[in-house]
Amino acid sequence: MAAPAKVLAKDMTQQTATELQTVLVDLIDLSLQGKQAHWNVVGPQFRTLHLELDEVVEDARKWADDVAERLRALGVAADGRANVIAKRTGLESLPEGTIADNEVLLRVTDQLSTAAARGRTSIGRLDSTDKISEDILIEIVEGLEKHLWMFCSQRM
Ligand SMILES: [Fe+2]
Repeated sequence: MAAPAKVLAKDMTQQTATELQTVLVDLIDLSLQGKQAHWNVVGPQFRTLHLELDEVVEDARKWADDVAERLRALGVAADGRANVIAKRTGLESLPEGTIADNEVLLRVTDQLSTAAARGRTSIGRLDSTDKISEDILIEIVEGLEKHLWMFCSQRM
């Protein structure tokens, strides 16, 4: 078995990993629910939202990969299993079936807002444990808040 990387002290590693894992779960859920909305949105804003949701999904997948690989760089296993995502996500689930465009806007705005807020909380905690992981999350939350602004701007 390959020796785990030892980048940080053990307690710092544990605290950092807890924050990274929390963000990883939210990002994977955001990517899964983004596709759910991409497929099932209906209404006059279909085309815009259908395309825009794929941009969110693409970013969320990339960010999830960045976070998971940071966990591995710290010598910790990343957990992206479906049952773990379902249990630990901070995001509200979309309803089953097709979803009206206005409701997609409301619900995705809420998901982005939750993911960004939880990310910010993790950033605050990482300040005293690992600046590199903090830096990764700062970039992610910046991107989440950009998507949040774009979704908010479409609501009347
Ligand atoms: Fe598609």
